[in-house]
Amino acid sequence: MAPELIIRPSALARRSPASLDITAPYRKQPLDPFLGGKLGRYVLEERIQQEAGTSSLYLAQDTGHSSNRRVVVKLAFNEHTDPARANMLLTREGAALEQIAHTNVINMLHHGMFRGPDSMIYDYLVLEHLPGQTLTEAFRHRAPVDWREIRPYFIDLCNALEAAHKLGIAHGDIKPQNIILSDLPTLDKRPLLVLLDFGCARFPNTSLDDMLLPRSLVLGTFPFLLMDVLMGGPYSYSADLHSFGVLIHLFVTGKLPFQGNGIAELARSQSLGLGALPESFSADVREIIIRLISAERQDKFHDVAELRDAIVRAA
Ligand SMILES: Nc1ncnc2c1ncn2[C@@H]1O[C@H](COP(=O)(O)OP(=O)(O)O)[C@@H](O)[C@H]1O
Ligand SMILES: [Mg+2]
Repeated sequence: MAPELIIRPSALARRSPASLDITAPYRKQPLDPFLGGKLGRYVLEERIQQEAGTSSLYLAQDTGHSSNRRVVVKLAFNEHTDPARANMLLTREGAALEQIAHTNVINMLHHGMFRGPDSMIYDYLVLEHLPGQTLTEAFRHRAPVDWREIRPYFIDLCNALEAAHKLGIAHGDIKPQNIILSDLPTLDKRPLLVLLDFGCARFPNTSLDDMLLPRSLVLGTFPFLLMDVLMGGPYSYSADLHSFGVLIHLFVTGKLPFQGNGIAELARSQSLGLGALPESFSADVREIIIRLISAERQDKFHDVAELRDAIVRAA
């Protein structure tokens, strides 16, 4: 049974498409019809998303839990996206997260359904709430970041990706906004890295991927995507490694390796090759970046475990 979604009448009355201001900050979106409503046992208290995605994210109170814990609810519905497409992606995210249990991957508490304002049934996910900052926020104004400082987080990210890849799941959208440095301390007293947003999850080498995703649909985020994927090729685990390489380049140089506002521009930027890396980098660090993202290099990392070994060894 899909739980009933209780919509605040006042918010609904105020909502008219003409008055939606899509440039307004997503946080505390005042015209959101779900905000303040109840989804099953979850009270949706605050909109937490900062950039346009295909779903809506809320900080919520879990009234069914003894301590009224805070959770995050991700709904396959928002003002800017085709609901059917949003639902397809969130269903895939739920299917991926159902399988993965790892310290460095977001913990899904529940995968449910609700009836949307158009009376259709949509998916929602309930996630553990992670107080902390995204990798982007944590290092804002601090790039380039010293290799030794950021390396432990790259190792955590390898561990998270390995857990997914071993289960046949590619993340599909590795970028700093999809990584949280949680306030939960680790044994070595640094924040815990947690990978989230499996909304672009792919299941490489399975017919599931081909059957459920239209060929023309390119998922992911432009500057982080591999050229083959941009050109409509199948998604592979090595496409995740390419995005990882773009992320490493961004943090240790302070710049994206490839630029472009569309498929053609970004593909051209990638075909021009990787710019020179700073002389101050060790040979090991350079090798890692070049092997990950340079189109010319044929000796790509075989898998995440091999990449992790290289990161651990690199001075
Ligand atoms: N479980 C969580 N705890 C805390 N913040 C979260 C959580 N999940 C998502 N967020 C925040 O919401 C943002 C958007 O979530 P994400 O799953 O990436 O959605 P989208 O598909 O819209 O990109 C993240 O960048 C992060 O800042
Ligand atoms: Mg995201």
